[in-house]
Amino acid sequence: MGAMPADVAEAVRRTAPLYERVKSVIPEIEWATMAVDIDAILRLKKERNAVILAHNYMKPEIFHAIADIRGDSLALAIEASRIDAEVIIMAGVHFMAETVKLLNPSRTVLLPALEAGCSLAESITPKDVRMMRERFPQTPIVTYVNTSAAVKAESDICCTSGNAKKIVESLGVRQVIMIPDEYLAQNVAKQTNVDIVTWKGHCEVHEQFTPEEIEAFRDQNPGVVIAAHPECPPAVVEKCDFAGSTAAMIEWISDKKPERAVLLTECSMSDNVAAMVPQTELIRPCKLCPHMKRVTLANIRASLEYMQHEVTIPAAIAPCARRAVERMIEVGR
Ligand code: 13P
Ligand code: SF4
Repeated sequence: MGAMPADVAEAVRRTAPLYERVKSVIPEIEWATMAVDIDAILRLKKERNAVILAHNYMKPEIFHAIADIRGDSLALAIEASRIDAEVIIMAGVHFMAETVKLLNPSRTVLLPALEAGCSLAESITPKDVRMMRERFPQTPIVTYVNTSAAVKAESDICCTSGNAKKIVESLGVRQVIMIPDEYLAQNVAKQTNVDIVTWKGHCEVHEQFTPEEIEAFRDQNPGVVIAAHPECPPAVVEKCDFAGSTAAMIEWISDKKPERAVLLTECSMSDNVAAMVPQTELIRPCKLCPHMKRVTLANIRASLEYMQHEVTIPAAIAPCARRAVERMIEVGR
């Protein structure tokens, strides 16, 4: 690399051990553009007594270099309830920050990109849930964590992709309503005798995968193993070797270390796994979640510098929403 400004050179030197973790997925020249922010974030975390929670879809420089806790929605929710820090930065989307706030009401929870939403969370409102309750008064409502706190507050219990079947069966009833992800609900319905009433919400990333694409991966890459997130349509999941939450997919690949694999999920996760499991060649169909990608080193740094954007939950809904999340955590993974 050519000469660089002294502050950049110093930041590159200080962050060199972190670069070792991601050098297979981030070119050295790009790291030089990131090092100053990374260095500042590490300093600010100490000054603010802050921790950074990062979802598995965060870009490698966030996931591998600055995060304190990484995981799927369930792991982040559970870890959030054990955190001992004044400030929690949620490197993820809005519903995740709300869940963290529900479980940590006395701490400051910051979301670096306030506009980071989720197509599933946007697919249902509290009014919709009340309408379902009226139509099925005897049927418990299981709500995916990818929803607003206001929707959670209308629900009996939450679930994630990592525990959905367990939650549905824990209720000991013949029928449940599972909202809002239609495909997750249909994928769970195939594994249980409980009758599941669905809603028509979809993840804008996972709904793009098709069975034809899976066949093409297999034709072009003999011996490839394919794992899917259960937000994918059932016709896609059926054709895969494994389906599970983002954490379950990572565990599966880390365990099996196949020669070649495809992860049918958000694009950055394959980069994060590639850095962790170098033995496996990851074929990467790049489907980005535009909401997750709003979180950057620059806005994480700004959130620590200016203590923005604080996530709060109205007092009128917080207790009921918290109860739905806590009931889920009591049932466990
Ligand atoms: P996980 O709970 O599996 O991490 O999924 C969250 C999500 O948003 C998937 O699109
Ligand atoms: Fe929502 Fe899909 Fe993005 Fe996950 S990947 S945050 S479900 S839009």
